[in-house]
Amino acid sequence: MSWSSPGGPGHTRGDGTVTAHAPAKVNVSLAVGPLRPDGFHGLQTVYLAVSLLDTVTVRRGEGLSVTVTGEGAGGPDPVPTDRRNLVWQAAELLAEQAGVAAEAAIAVDKAIPAAAGLAGGSADAAAALVALDALWGTRATRGDLTALAARLGSDVPFGLAGGVALGSGRGEQLTPVLARRQWHWVLGVAEGGLSTPAVYAELDRLRAAGRAPEGEGTPSPEPVLAALRSGPPRALAAALGNDLQAAAVSLRPALRRALRAATDAGALASLVSGSGPTVAALAQDEDAAVRLAAVLAGEGVFRTVRVVHGPVPGARLVG
Ligand code: C5P
Repeated sequence: MSWSSPGGPGHTRGDGTVTAHAPAKVNVSLAVGPLRPDGFHGLQTVYLAVSLLDTVTVRRGEGLSVTVTGEGAGGPDPVPTDRRNLVWQAAELLAEQAGVAAEAAIAVDKAIPAAAGLAGGSADAAAALVALDALWGTRATRGDLTALAARLGSDVPFGLAGGVALGSGRGEQLTPVLARRQWHWVLGVAEGGLSTPAVYAELDRLRAAGRAPEGEGTPSPEPVLAALRSGPPRALAAALGNDLQAAAVSLRPALRRALRAATDAGALASLVSGSGPTVAALAQDEDAAVRLAAVLAGEGVFRTVRVVHGPVPGARLVG
């Protein structure tokens, strides 16, 4: 399949670049079903896009190149800058579908920590789709981009959509949810990441050993959706839940202390974000979030802490 009328001049700035932002996510509710034959787990989740944004800037180039700066650049286990990077795969997929040459220099500036359970790689892929669509003038509809996003990864469609959404399937099937207010959080970022497949595999292992509930005991999205619609922060705090938390804690026992440190420091509730190891701590309001972050930063439980709010929009052009 390719689009019928691709091409045409793209939309670039005077310096020939196009820039897009995309947000991190927290799963405020994540119920994981059994392993499917395709290697994924069916799930029901409520995604919230939060104000920690990666920036992807693209310009025309010869062939494809990816550079990474910020979080996850350098160090012992750097974010890859080759085909293993979802941004690279996004560029190849969009070019193939649109019938254009996959030629661009892609610069990813990361504020979202890598392998942290915040869907940073998915955000980068979503931002790259939006930026390259503009650079190449491929004129993809939002629906076209969402279909490509789902092929790239379970969380990439939400990186495009942003806001609040109910996710089903393997996370890629989205229903938008109306949220009437902003929610304030502190993200506690750990030293070192966790591998998403490893965390899912650990959940399967714990369940097979009868050490983690399956089905019953798993969080239901309904109370979270009700709280997001009309509740006070305490109602949302009471409804938060993540089936992957037990597996993340099993692989990274220090997380137990980190979760407790957040509530001891005044968070209304804390949970592991996605497959972790980031801890998402819910605060009463923005002032409380700033105070909570200061206490947690002082305790040194986390590598770094970030005050964020959400919902925020999904991937979009800037400048
Ligand atoms: O879709 P994505 O590439 O982010 O998934 C990475 C890995 O996480 C999958 O290969 C799978 O091991 C695990 N996963 C899963 N069930 C999901 C989403 C991801 O088992 N719904």
